Amino acid sequence: MSTTFITTTAGAPWPSNEDSKSAGPRGPLLLENYQLLEKLAHQNRERIPERTVHAKGSGAYGTFTVTRDITEYSCASVFAEIGKATPMLARFSTVAGERGAADAERDVRGFALKFYTDDGNWDLVGNNTPVFFVRDPMKFPDFIHTQKRHPRTNMRSAAAMWDFWSLSPESLHQVTILFSDRGLPQGFRFMNGYGSHTYSLWNARRERFWVKFHFKTQQGHRFWTNDEAKEIVGRSRETSQEDLFTAIEGGDFPRWTVCIQVMAEHEAEQVGFNPFDVTKVWPHKDYPLIEVGVMELNHNPENYFAEIEQASFSPSNIVPGIGFSPDKMLQGRIFAYADAHRYRVGTHYEALPVNRPRVAVRNYHMDGPMRFDAPKATDAYYEPNSVHGPVDAPFAIEPPLRVSGEATYYEHRGDGDDFAQPRALYALFDDAQKERFHGNVAAAMDGVPEHIIERQLGLFAKVDPAIAKGIRGKLAMPEPVGPATATAAG
Ligand code: HEM
Repeated sequence: MSTTFITTTAGAPWPSNEDSKSAGPRGPLLLENYQLLEKLAHQNRERIPERTVHAKGSGAYGTFTVTRDITEYSCASVFAEIGKATPMLARFSTVAGERGAADAERDVRGFALKFYTDDGNWDLVGNNTPVFFVRDPMKFPDFIHTQKRHPRTNMRSAAAMWDFWSLSPESLHQVTILFSDRGLPQGFRFMNGYGSHTYSLWNARRERFWVKFHFKTQQGHRFWTNDEAKEIVGRSRETSQEDLFTAIEGGDFPRWTVCIQVMAEHEAEQVGFNPFDVTKVWPHKDYPLIEVGVMELNHNPENYFAEIEQASFSPSNIVPGIGFSPDKMLQGRIFAYADAHRYRVGTHYEALPVNRPRVAVRNYHMDGPMRFDAPKATDAYYEPNSVHGPVDAPFAIEPPLRVSGEATYYEHRGDGDDFAQPRALYALFDDAQKERFHGNVAAAMDGVPEHIIERQLGLFAKVDPAIAKGIRGKLAMPEPVGPATATAAG
């Protein structure tokens, strides 16, 4: 085997990577020992800002393969025909913890997907839950503050979390999932994924349908109890990373069955609930799951930083045949992600190998920091032009979105019932699941001021009095004197 030699960053052979150049064995260093300076300077720049949320994550490449023809709903090339396989990337994450947080924490899991389709990248940036805590993007930064560290103590604050939740009854559905068994999966392979928002599909006849995406794990659901997780975290902070990486490395490729729920465009006005409210699911009996394909992860990244830390997913990345919906949260996210990437990774983040579409990219954006990909310069560097530069693609215009109403600040919890869906979910839990749910909530309320606990128990009582009673029992708290103190509207 031939020997390879270290080089400087400029490619010149470098004689000494362990000893710096000094004036004698006891002498000071020389400024001309430039490679020492280069090495120290490089180390100072080894990190980029971590994601403000979902900072700890794991990812892998794979394939999405179509198993059912849904061209009646969508003309997206990714669904073009049965058997069609599209390369993709997945990144899974926890939400609240920093880059070095333990994996086995009770938290929502991110389920971010990038499909490298023939028509450009389609990103579906979802979670392992079909709903979310809030329904208005105006509330998102405040919600995330409660999940992160207190500005003075620099500690996580259970008081802040429950204060916010108990004043935000729309969070009840997601809170019920978070403190159920599904809130602490054993690893990323053992959970479902959901697009969560309502998106749209549109077909070659330019008809629009509303759609929800579901990814059902073929590995089965596995979860840790709180007690198991305590022991696991003491042993390793990377259990989900280890599980995913090792399985794929060993050829045991995880798979998910990909399904959709579909609603005709005009039905959105007629259904009794707001189909664009991300705190709600669509009833499966009215909108049954339609199986459309299989997602398999079969290839670990070669370089975690380059391919996973720099992976940049954004709900704004849609392709012809797939569209947005009026969901306010989704609309807020259409801005937030690309803005985060430009700040965190850099202006040309989409030209990095992991983010780069597998099709030609043609536009009139130019220059800026780290224009590393050196696209061939032509006379068509402005538009319109008469030198045959790229022109509009009118076939990609989505069907018109019908809108009506008056613009004002609609109350974020204006559309009513925050209790029926968590009630229906709680009713599905067996006795042991209910018991664990009560215990998990009680454990998370440790140290929370009593008036906040009472307010939250008041909300839970509106979902089902048995929840409030069960949690109260775990907390060994007496029944309050007088009526329940749910002050938040709902
Ligand atoms: C208005 C509401 C929301 C805002 C403003 C928001 C904003 C953000 C931001 C800024 C990031 C970091 C992006 C980065 O630096 O790469 C992020 C990550 C993420 N968000 Fe959200 N988010 C919102 C709601 C949601 C919802 C409802 C979901 C799921 C249904 C979700 C799923 C994710 C996931 C999975 C990631 C990690 C993506 C990755 O793996 O790189 N977010 N979010």
